[in-house]
Amino acid sequence: MTYTDGTDTLVRAMPESPDPSSDAAVRRAGRQLIFSLYGALRAVKLYPVENAAVEKALAELTNQSRELLSSEGELEIRMAGEFIFINQTRLRLALDNFGSFSHLLALFRGSGVGSVTVAKGVSAKDWLIFLSLLQHSNTENPSERLDEVAAKLESARVTSFLLAPPTDNGSENKEQDKERAKRTYAESVTATRDLMESVRMGGSPNIKKIKRVVQGIVDQILNDETSLIGLTTIRDYDEYTFTHSVNVCIFSVALGKRLGLTKLQLYDLGMAALFHDIGKSRVPQELLRKTSGLTDDEWPLIAAHPWLGVLALFQVRGAQELPYRAMIVAHEHHMKLDLTGYPRPIRERQLSVFSKIVAIADAFDAATSRRSYQSVPFTPAEVMNELRNNPRRGMDPVIVKAFINLTGVYPVGTLVVLDTFELGIVHAVNPLQEMLSRPIVRIISDSMGNILHPGTLVDLADKTADGIFARTSIKTDNPDRYGIRTGDYFV
Ligand SMILES: [Fe+2]
Ligand SMILES: [Fe+2]
Repeated sequence: MTYTDGTDTLVRAMPESPDPSSDAAVRRAGRQLIFSLYGALRAVKLYPVENAAVEKALAELTNQSRELLSSEGELEIRMAGEFIFINQTRLRLALDNFGSFSHLLALFRGSGVGSVTVAKGVSAKDWLIFLSLLQHSNTENPSERLDEVAAKLESARVTSFLLAPPTDNGSENKEQDKERAKRTYAESVTATRDLMESVRMGGSPNIKKIKRVVQGIVDQILNDETSLIGLTTIRDYDEYTFTHSVNVCIFSVALGKRLGLTKLQLYDLGMAALFHDIGKSRVPQELLRKTSGLTDDEWPLIAAHPWLGVLALFQVRGAQELPYRAMIVAHEHHMKLDLTGYPRPIRERQLSVFSKIVAIADAFDAATSRRSYQSVPFTPAEVMNELRNNPRRGMDPVIVKAFINLTGVYPVGTLVVLDTFELGIVHAVNPLQEMLSRPIVRIISDSMGNILHPGTLVDLADKTADGIFARTSIKTDNPDRYGIRTGDYFV
């Protein structure tokens, strides 16, 4: 599939810079600076201070920051979400800088630093002190770390850096992000429904619309992952087949992003994920909605949906633009790693990476949804545990690990009982990788059992003045037991 205009969509969505040529120059110099910063961090970490490699890396970093300071008049390195900005310019993430970008993002985030303003006259020695402090701050809490680093800089009389905590991109922006996510989600469900209905009627639908939908999902996830992932918890029973396809697409794209896929690869993956169950349009609807168990005669019809999907994909108009990967994913998504799933392949084969990604997203969404033949869904945490620890599920352990990194040990939407006797719903994974079991939680019931709506957000990594965690999740539970609809807290 070709996306001639795809790569620029995100860039175009960003505010226009008044002077494009200087913008490109800042971007180029900014990327260089990030490389040098990363190189210097590694050198400082690996070698003693007097080592020539450290000296060289610091000299390079100093030169580059001075050059930017003299051409731009100012130098601010700012981290916002998954992006790095140099002054007002957002740096583009590419495969060659993916490693350095994510390392820096994680380090800054963990140190509670949202932005660093570098002063003119910054010296190599200044950089050395700052970088060592960044790596060696030793309190758990990011906001304390920021204070600690700032205080130590001051006592070392280093005045070249002004540190600031991450700016919340403003509640107004957050609301906008949320609104946009809702629109993207609703449009995706409608387009998927139209497509599947059309296949059911024997038509040959055009995939142009679907392509736009998937581009919307990818762009949204690259900008603001949390809002869209939150919406996957709605899981509308009547719309199951369509919301399921959209959810699997969202999880797959978010997972692909974590695995370092490029934007174009994410488009392909998103399309494949959205189409993974298209074969179900060729399975009698009564079977899909059946509430009792399937009989021996009925099961083969359901189990035929992978290859029926491949056939359906041949009929889609504009199929020459559809990645043949979508067919592979439709065919392979229930095969399992050890090929004990269905359809049973005749020969040995290696499942494609896309199929492995989609299989995990699919299993997770299917198991946490309320469906006809599953009246009580598993909690997301139980499903996660199963995917990770039960080899018979046939999931790729490396990708499951990445999925846990994406969703945390307690995935978004999980109901958790806290040691304060409050109830919370997991809102987002903790951005600190070492805090995967301490997500951001929305408190929806106080210790007396009074339901709160909308409830407040708390970070389970937060500590009290005595240095102990203020709240800890003691178990997960089924929201039905409390008459709670988790989806209500995400719309
Ligand atoms: Fe399926
Ligand atoms: Fe599925």
